[in-house]
Amino acid sequence: MPLSAPDIKISTGIDTPRVDAQGFRSAMRIVATAVTVIATGEAGLRHGMTASAVCSLSDRPPMILACVNSNSTVLPHIRANGCFSANFLTETQSALAERFAGLTKVYGPDRFEAEIWGQLVTGAPVLHDALSVFDCRLECEYDSPTHTILIGRVEGMMHDPLARSLVYAGGHFSFPHHLAT
Ligand SMILES: Cc1cc2nc3c(=O)[nH]c(=O)nc-3n(C[C@H](O)[C@H](O)[C@H](O)COP(=O)(O)O)c2cc1C
Repeated sequence: MPLSAPDIKISTGIDTPRVDAQGFRSAMRIVATAVTVIATGEAGLRHGMTASAVCSLSDRPPMILACVNSNSTVLPHIRANGCFSANFLTETQSALAERFAGLTKVYGPDRFEAEIWGQLVTGAPVLHDALSVFDCRLECEYDSPTHTILIGRVEGMMHDPLARSLVYAGGHFSFPHHLAT
């Protein structure tokens, strides 16, 4: 059973002087991020969403942090299942990122094509051809007014050392070619 931390006290609806929402978006939009699909649920009951607010928290123990909008349809399923996977995408998987962001108007279990998903330890769906996959048990969560911060303990893992990361920046999915070897 995941633990809930006390609510973080953050006021909403007020822009900090000189830091309005539009300026904030402009500044963040140009920052490159990796792209994941966060997923949970057994075959036929799978749910997943695209998320870039996902990162490593610690290696001892191995923990992943993921920030999920509190209105996301995926969140209640992660809570009910007590586990989720973080699937970091490769440069060839931008179509998956779009699908799991709802940009192709596909929702719920229909976002999953059975043949490209499997499972490791927790039962959460894992993407066969991803860059790096972290299969996590939900350890605890923290609520902010808009998002829930999930912390997962990594129980299973796989990665493809020859694949290259999908990157999102400036509203586009791309691989940064200056990183090519
Ligand atoms: C590149 C990209 C990154 C995203 N990152 C996040 C994120 O970190 N957290 C989040 O809650 N939503 C994020 N989203 C939005 C969700 O993918 C989107 O709202 C999705 O439709 C949620 O699934 P649902 O419609 O089933 O609730 C991102 C979208 C894109 C295109």
